[in-house]
Amino acid sequence: MKIGIFGLGQMGSAMIRGYLRTNTLSPADVLVKGGRSQTAKKVSNSLGLTLIDNLTELAEASLILIATNPASVLSVLESLPEEVTANRIPIVSVAGGVSLDEMGAVLGADYPLAHSIPNTAVEVNQGVLGIAYAE
Ligand SMILES: NC(=O)c1ccc[n+]([C@@H]2O[C@H](COP(=O)([O-])OP(=O)(O)OC[C@H]3O[C@@H](n4cnc5c(N)ncnc54)[C@H](OP(=O)(O)O)[C@@H]3O)[C@@H](O)[C@H]2O)c1
Repeated sequence: MKIGIFGLGQMGSAMIRGYLRTNTLSPADVLVKGGRSQTAKKVSNSLGLTLIDNLTELAEASLILIATNPASVLSVLESLPEEVTANRIPIVSVAGGVSLDEMGAVLGADYPLAHSIPNTAVEVNQGVLGIAYAE
């Protein structure tokens, strides 16, 4: 299973490290879209993940995680190409303060969305998280 992730800061990299640690995912399964700095590139290089430029590459993912700053979440959703949204690839945001209703207003109220708030202990598979699902 491939997953896509936006943002490899503290939380994004903690989640991916947790998946790799348990072999839930292999590095080749992870497609990363980074932000403006070199952060995602550095982490991707050190973990062997694939950094993407073209968002259509996310069409092969089974799940997309959004671990950007809250202010970027809705613009990230707006940037998703038709190839991704037409496949109705489930999206999970871990960003604080951006509700399922706000995300659904961009992608449609019936789009498969979830909002989760984990903690960075997910990096060592000891995390505690809350999760809410759209209808
Ligand atoms: N840290 C926690 O304990 C924690 C707990 C629960 C929830 N969260 C949530 O997790 C999210 C990330 O938090 P964090 O602590 O990991 O922050 P962070 O370390 O600042 O990481 C955020 C990352 O998002 C990237 N980014 C911003 N806009 C982007 C875009 N349009 N496309 C791709 N990447 C983008 C940034 O990349 P550049 O800097 O390169 O632009 C940055 O590396 C936040 O929404 C926060 O509310 C965090």
